[in-house]
Amino acid sequence: MSNNLLKGKKGIIFGALDEQSIAWKVAEQCVEQGATISLTNAPVALRFGKIQELGEKLNAPVIAADATNMDDLNALIDQSQEAMGGKIDFVLHSIGMSLNVRKKREYTNLKHDWMLKTLDISAVSFHRLMQCLYEKDAMNDWGSILALSYIAAQRVFPDYNEMAEAKALLESFARSFGYHFGVKKKVRVNTISQSPTWTTAGSGVKGFQQFFDYAEEMSPLGNATADECAQYCAMMFSDFTRKVTMQNLFHDGGYSFMGINPKVMDVE
Ligand SMILES: NC(=O)c1ccc[n+]([C@@H]2O[C@H](COP(=O)([O-])OP(=O)(O)OC[C@H]3O[C@@H](n4cnc5c(N)ncnc54)[C@H](O)[C@@H]3O)[C@@H](O)[C@H]2O)c1
Repeated sequence: MSNNLLKGKKGIIFGALDEQSIAWKVAEQCVEQGATISLTNAPVALRFGKIQELGEKLNAPVIAADATNMDDLNALIDQSQEAMGGKIDFVLHSIGMSLNVRKKREYTNLKHDWMLKTLDISAVSFHRLMQCLYEKDAMNDWGSILALSYIAAQRVFPDYNEMAEAKALLESFARSFGYHFGVKKKVRVNTISQSPTWTTAGSGVKGFQQFFDYAEEMSPLGNATADECAQYCAMMFSDFTRKVTMQNLFHDGGYSFMGINPKVMDVE
């Protein structure tokens, strides 16, 4: 159902790979709420993913950009502004990748050159993106920038591996850049810490089914779905949240503040 929350707004959505991707749902929700968007992903994802399909469905340009490459990011911002006819109101960073996780390395036996790549793709890219937007003065006043995070930034989830450090860094960039963007342009910067969600990136984590089931049991409201995350993102891009900035916002059915849930203790 549309409330036209984003009528007249223009946004860039990173990270829609296939229909399971959280970014895919956010893109659909934003357009449903009246926004015009451009879609972007890494060149390899444009070749092997389904993002072109989404672009056609939403009438959105699909622009290749490796989020670790400043030239790509600058070109993306220029092309998006050109295609949409003006400055940007909202941006979603929905990017995560760890070679150590992919190659099933234990946390105590990581390859550190891969770790640096993980941090670059999953966290430093957020700073790169904001720096490009800031330097180009590409955001409208009272714009909104979001990245997606996970509670392993604050609590230990051993199988989440080095992505925990990536998320801690990502959240810190939201706070620090949120200050600068707030002062300069009244732009807000936040992270949303989402429940475990069945996607390509999510299901790559060892023991994901157990993660997912445990969180589902622990949360009084149950896990938040990708569609629900999309609705939350749309609200954060809307004018109803203009003074929310530099926050890590838990979107997890209450999981983050639970101590014990009798449901989980109730084992035979
Ligand atoms: N799925 C979960 O359980 C969960 C929970 C909390 C947070 N998140 C976060 O949500 C975000 C989106 O992940 P998802 O679960 O939708 O999975 P996904 O696999 O659909 O999305 C990850 C995206 O990152 C993109 N990407 C990888 N390297 C890139 C690069 N160099 N440049 C540009 N894009 C690149 C991929 O192409 C892909 O589209 C990630 O930040 C993830 O950590 C996911």
